[in-house]
Amino acid sequence: MATEPSSTTPVPALNRTRQLEMYHRARKTLPGGTNSNFRAWGEDTIYIDRGKGGTIWDLDGNEYIDLRLGYGPVILGHNDERVDDYVNEQMRRGVSFSLTSEDEVRAMELICELTGWVEMARMTVSGTEATMHAMRIARAYTGRNKIVKFEGQYHGVHDYALISVTPDDMSELGDADKPVRLAWGRGIPDAVADTIIPARYNNLDLLRRTFEEEGDDIAAVIVEPVLGNAQGILPQPGFHAAMRALTEEFGILLIFDEVKTGFRFAKGGAAEYFGIRPDLATFAKAMGNGYPAAAFGGRREVMSVLPDKVSHGGTYAGNRVAAAAAVKTLSIIRDTNALETIHATGRRVQDGLREILNPSGVPYVFTGHPSMFGIMFTEQAPTEYRDWANSDHELYDAVALGMLARGAMPEPDSREPWFICEAHAGGDTVDRVVSIFEASFHAALEARTRGEIPVHAEGASHDVGSG
Ligand SMILES: Cc1ncc(COP(=O)(O)O)c(C=O)c1O
Repeated sequence: MATEPSSTTPVPALNRTRQLEMYHRARKTLPGGTNSNFRAWGEDTIYIDRGKGGTIWDLDGNEYIDLRLGYGPVILGHNDERVDDYVNEQMRRGVSFSLTSEDEVRAMELICELTGWVEMARMTVSGTEATMHAMRIARAYTGRNKIVKFEGQYHGVHDYALISVTPDDMSELGDADKPVRLAWGRGIPDAVADTIIPARYNNLDLLRRTFEEEGDDIAAVIVEPVLGNAQGILPQPGFHAAMRALTEEFGILLIFDEVKTGFRFAKGGAAEYFGIRPDLATFAKAMGNGYPAAAFGGRREVMSVLPDKVSHGGTYAGNRVAAAAAVKTLSIIRDTNALETIHATGRRVQDGLREILNPSGVPYVFTGHPSMFGIMFTEQAPTEYRDWANSDHELYDAVALGMLARGAMPEPDSREPWFICEAHAGGDTVDRVVSIFEASFHAALEARTRGEIPVHAEGASHDVGSG
């Protein structure tokens, strides 16, 4: 077991020799030294060696309890032998044919069975592709052009998804009554951005007004059932049901982006958890325990625009490795109590954190679901992305960095939730997470009294607007 760290225990400096060397080597050929902007942390960029269960080791041999889990996919644990053995067995039969294998059929049957409402689905390689295709299907089915998406929600990196995603400065999102289309980065054509209408999560008045003004040209609303890009901010009671009714009233499709929540919140994902039947949904992450498996699916009538009326394909769509991983992972989720274990483990972690946070007097709320939750240092439960600016994220960032140095790795950005996998239930993992949090939290508070962490200024640009 790791030594019991306390806030007064000096934080051992992590050995980063090989990683720094790798960073300087990598950035000559990979922009930022990584294959994703989200992993490019300058000289702090982490280069990974291996993972097992809920633990990972970087190239310098530093060990961490992994609370990022690759941004969520590793639902069972790294290097899960049940999944890896089946994938290995299947991949020895050849991996890429651009022909259809039985595992692809089984994987989609499992999605239909587990969700209970998806009637047809197709595989993609990434969540990005899945949301891109779901949007196109919705446009094709309805004959309309526009898609409503919520501020702060992340649906991947295609052009239509990169609108009003994750600014630090909330004023960039525009007036609360009339949010603007904020493109994330250059290179997104105005003509594409113009087809996306930003909305505010949990704000039904704005949604209704948008439908009344432009409903005839709106094909779909795409929604992450919880705001996964802001620590899993929850829907207010009745929000999803009211949105479902509103979309039906205006003949608009409802797309649940279950890339993060699918097969995690419940066997049937967030749709089951919140009791909603969308028209389309997208899946990835947990469906393959880390292998690149993803899918979009939905009502038979809607999906039936394929194959004749809409383009969809992909050399690697349904490739053997991903299909095998999906079959095995989804079978485990269906046939075992893995999800109950994950949910109970998340609750144990939260109980431990409460024991530390409650006596501290620092206001906080848990967001999200025990399997994927955030801690926001704020008095008031957040309801939308703009509220993140009002949380004391400076304190959170210091805690997260302290945890990293002490051997547990949440994402060092206060918008990303902590993820729990089945393997975290074993050994003393929960106790270690809690004690590492305790030491890091107290160290951060002490650092603040020394003036080393800026005191949070309320999001000056946050405009509460019309509810
Ligand atoms: C809700 C949601 N949708 C879509 C995506 C994009 O998935 P991918 O990274 O596999 O392209 C993500 C990724 O984090 C996501 O969280």
